[in-house]
Amino acid sequence: METPTLEKLLREAARDAALSPSSHNAQPCELALLTSDEAHRALAEAGAPLGEGVYAAVALDPARCLCALPAHRTEMLVSGGIYVEALSIALAARGVRADLRWRLGGVPPELVRLLAPWEPLAVLHLTPAPADTEAKALLPLLAARRTNRSPYRSEPLDSTVVESVRAARSRAFPESSEVCGLVTLTEPDVLARAGDLVRRYGALEFTHAAAWHETYAHMRFGPEVIRQAETGLPITHLLAKPLPGWQQALLRAVLSPPSMRVLRPLGLARSMAQQSGTLLERSGMLLYLHFHEENPSEAIQVAAGGRLLALWLALAARGGGLHPVSVMVQHPEPRQRLITELGLPPGRGFFFARVGVPTAELPPAPRRRNAAERVRTV
Ligand SMILES: Cc1cc2nc3c(=O)[nH]c(=O)nc-3n(C[C@H](O)[C@H](O)[C@H](O)COP(=O)(O)O)c2cc1C
Repeated sequence: METPTLEKLLREAARDAALSPSSHNAQPCELALLTSDEAHRALAEAGAPLGEGVYAAVALDPARCLCALPAHRTEMLVSGGIYVEALSIALAARGVRADLRWRLGGVPPELVRLLAPWEPLAVLHLTPAPADTEAKALLPLLAARRTNRSPYRSEPLDSTVVESVRAARSRAFPESSEVCGLVTLTEPDVLARAGDLVRRYGALEFTHAAAWHETYAHMRFGPEVIRQAETGLPITHLLAKPLPGWQQALLRAVLSPPSMRVLRPLGLARSMAQQSGTLLERSGMLLYLHFHEENPSEAIQVAAGGRLLALWLALAARGGGLHPVSVMVQHPEPRQRLITELGLPPGRGFFFARVGVPTAELPPAPRRRNAAERVRTV
């Protein structure tokens, strides 16, 4: 039997990496294979050995990136790190070793120019290696993992599940365990205080005009639209239940930015924040990820995505669900309140989520099609 080429294996791995979670399901990552003469020249000039293997770049497509809030830059970098982690798992499972040659901030300018307008987050050197059995075991979890927004069972999570989340390590960014901190919160009084904070600040998600405008543009309403969607957030996933077409149409009208402005005095945003707070305090655990510094480098923010996917997969392996509540870390005031009122460590919070055993299973979220074919040769 013929051995598949590294390019073929990369294209196959791209299909698995496409299942990575990303903020608003924007799927901002693209993949390029650096095999043109020009790319080889740039690689050689930058000191990369060309004898063995191939080079590939993971990049952000600015056209797909969220930008309404400064915190969205972090979310895009973290989503990029998640993608690199998923790709590394998918490659290792297929017998391809992916060494991180350069990362955001250090990519040689000539390669940056060749990839423009994409913004390279990581340049990987791919070489053949024995298939990695641990990575093989993770492969089905890349497909099984979900953002589960259903209510969770309220009893505390089993301590082995909590431990597995704490122990999860990124394979693409091993240093991410040091550069970003993880806090797991299971005490009922802490969960109650966190629920209060979400009730107090959660409405910001709907009342911040620019952020809501962008979120709404990513929402998908209507059975046919949802079936065809390749990106974004189906309303049935956001509400974690099936809805007839007429209700979806009604919600499309009610949630539109102009109606939300008009309905604001009626307290719609407040009532949605109340529900969100209640769901949160009735979960088995809260998860908080933070950088130790207030202004970490962008490379550190990408690396953090590796740790996040590793722990998300560890949860998925044990039937645990995760539902981010990013509004609490997107705005300076709730971000600070989380620290002071929940007694969290100092530093910049970048991910806050409820975790638990979901009461409902959910279908997969939409994904961009033809991931293998979309790998661009540069
Ligand atoms: C950095 C980041 C932030 C996210 N924030 C939220 C959030 O605030 N609320 C939410 O419901 N989902 C959030 N999500 C989940 C995404 O919407 C989800 O990953 C995407 O819709 C794809 O769905 P899936 O995770 O089920 O594959 C976030 C995901 C990431 C990676």
